[in-house]
Amino acid sequence: MNTELVKGVNWVGYVDWPVRDFHGYQTKRGSSYNAYLVKGETKIALIDTVKAPYVETLKAHVAALCALDQVDYIVCNHAEPDHAGGLPAMVAACPNAVVVCNAKCKDALEHHFDTSSWKWQVVKEGETLDLGGRTLQFFDTVMCHWPESMVTYLPEEELLFSMDIFGQHYATYCRFDDEADLNEVMQEAKTYYANIVLLYAKPVAAAAKKLLGLKLKMVAPSHGVIWRSHFDKILAAYLDWHVSKPTKKVIVFYSTMWQSTRLMAEAVAEGALESDVTVKLFDLKAVGDTELITELMDCASFAVGTPTLNQSLMPRVAAALTYIRGLKPAGKKAFSFGSYGWASKGAEEAQEYLKAMNCELISAPIICRFVPDEATIEKCREAGRALAAAALAVE
Ligand code: FEO
Repeated sequence: MNTELVKGVNWVGYVDWPVRDFHGYQTKRGSSYNAYLVKGETKIALIDTVKAPYVETLKAHVAALCALDQVDYIVCNHAEPDHAGGLPAMVAACPNAVVVCNAKCKDALEHHFDTSSWKWQVVKEGETLDLGGRTLQFFDTVMCHWPESMVTYLPEEELLFSMDIFGQHYATYCRFDDEADLNEVMQEAKTYYANIVLLYAKPVAAAAKKLLGLKLKMVAPSHGVIWRSHFDKILAAYLDWHVSKPTKKVIVFYSTMWQSTRLMAEAVAEGALESDVTVKLFDLKAVGDTELITELMDCASFAVGTPTLNQSLMPRVAAALTYIRGLKPAGKKAFSFGSYGWASKGAEEAQEYLKAMNCELISAPIICRFVPDEATIEKCREAGRALAAAALAVE
């Protein structure tokens, strides 16, 4: 596996092939925790670590390039444990290393670990660290993805260690974008954005704008492949994802109890399909939230269906809507629908979620008692046509 970014700068991280759950995010292609070793003429710096269980691999990768007591600095760009979990073991293994981070990160690390014996260098926005012929420069990227997040720039190589920004949960032996399957990389970058970055779209957009003032030959995130040939592609995609830019796509998702809400969902989809738009229909039994929010991020409009269960909505629908509401895809048109037996509550509660997401409601909840009759089915088709009209209006 080629790990050399440029001479004296190497990837030393861990590829986590089997991981399938990242705090609820279904990582169907695994992940990687990227750490990098930068050698200057006089100093050596390790940029980030890995999840705690994999620190022995990190140590071995570093030890193949230099003795551990030659590591002068360990930069911590982000205190989240997928990158900082291995920090205590690395500090212990590298007796001469000073931990370099910003003040908020130091505070976060002190709340995670016993840091009483650590040596620190707290850095501020734009500050530099001389490695001898090479310089590390630090930029705060607040809320990308935690308040303390920062990135590290190596100006002599025009190389940015971009932390979570531009990352992908993607296990591969290819370290670079031009070695891997770019379709897979872009799909995983999109999934990563929808599930990790979307809520922080504004600060990430602001950070990207700031960082684009730098000369960039290579961008090395903390997950997935390093961008050296197709950075323009991921950057263009980020500009769309920052605003949940809609495409001509309609999503219908639902849970059903005795098939009535399924019949309504299919009628909504049928109505939308009368227009030249992409329509996708998901039974929540068959789709996870990770895939669903990725589909929703670039749809123009969507509908959610739930029967009434125990005077509320179906738990699976509540879980999906809670997840989506937390990530806040912007600018969507939507409505809810569903059947009930003796008291209608489910579709109405679903509509409240849509309001909380600032969706533009294109219909009152469409409800029916027990089994939809033809008039209800036609009402669903008509609402589907309205979803499609919203998608057709996308430029
Ligand atoms: Fe990959 Fe926010 O940690």
